[in-house]
Amino acid sequence: MRHCGSCPEIESRNGADPRRAPAYDAPPVSAPVPDPSDLRPWTPTETAHPDGALVWVRLDGPPPDGALHPDEAAHAATYHPKRLATWTGGRLALRAALRACGVAADGPILPDDRGAPRVPSGVVASLSHTGDLAVAIAAPDAGLRLGVDIERLAPPRLKVAEFVLTDAEKAVFDALPEVDRWPALLLRFSVKEALYKVLDPFLRRWIGFEEVEIPAPVLPPDAGSVPVTVARLPADAPGFRVEATCARGPLHVLSTARGAPVSRAVR
Ligand SMILES: CC(C)(COP(=O)(O)OP(=O)(O)OC[C@H]1O[C@@H](n2cnc3c(N)ncnc32)[C@H](O)[C@@H]1OP(=O)(O)O)[C@@H](O)C(=O)NCCC(=O)NCCS
Repeated sequence: MRHCGSCPEIESRNGADPRRAPAYDAPPVSAPVPDPSDLRPWTPTETAHPDGALVWVRLDGPPPDGALHPDEAAHAATYHPKRLATWTGGRLALRAALRACGVAADGPILPDDRGAPRVPSGVVASLSHTGDLAVAIAAPDAGLRLGVDIERLAPPRLKVAEFVLTDAEKAVFDALPEVDRWPALLLRFSVKEALYKVLDPFLRRWIGFEEVEIPAPVLPPDAGSVPVTVARLPADAPGFRVEATCARGPLHVLSTARGAPVSRAVR
């Protein structure tokens, strides 16, 4: 367990090294997606990830009093209870991830003009949530931006294929056995959402799902993580290098992405 004196307890599930900055070609890790019922409600839990500190928070009922910084609470004052839960879970996960990187993170974490969480200089971070889980990743800033996304596996929503897949991806999708189609589609959707969080801070515009293409049938084994090749990036991002991973847990899929313009220094 790693925490500074003033921060809430962070449970650590395995031997992550969150002080290490994300690097290209980092190996995938196994079993990074927990079942929420294995987590204590509203208690940040860290698992190993090659890109930095990955912290989960189980959302269960109303958030505990005092979970937010007063400025965050003021920002969220008019939120519907469900949105307040995801907002709070994201902040708890992100604050814990920042602290695992050695950042005090005592101030409010408010959105920037694009909706991304504004974090102290010297670190990069991203967060995502569903109704029952929030996840955040943070790492020292060595030039690569990070993106993370989680999605619930149930219920299948095969109709999203229409707006998520390019023609080439649709051909791969159509060739899959029926049982594999939904997880493959969801993982592709999730990887694209994680990529968006890497690319948007540079491009600062809506990026359509059809602008990004992933060639392989993205299907990691249960509770495993695989690297994902990105075949095509948006036309105005020719000088980018991005990498992604995806993983499948019992109830959710998790995707992460890292990347930057190639001109940026990467240690
Ligand atoms: C912004 C977006 C990626 C969020 O994804 P989502 O699945 O709806 O929601 P998630 O829970 O995964 O992520 C929400 C978090 O993303 C972060 N976020 C929002 N806008 C962001 C941005 N422009 N850049 C980085 N992070 C952003 C926020 O932290 C937000 O949580 P918060 O408001 O509680 O702080 C999505 O709504 C979107 O607009 N996508 C654009 C189209 C796209 O994904 N294209 C893919 C091709 S690259």
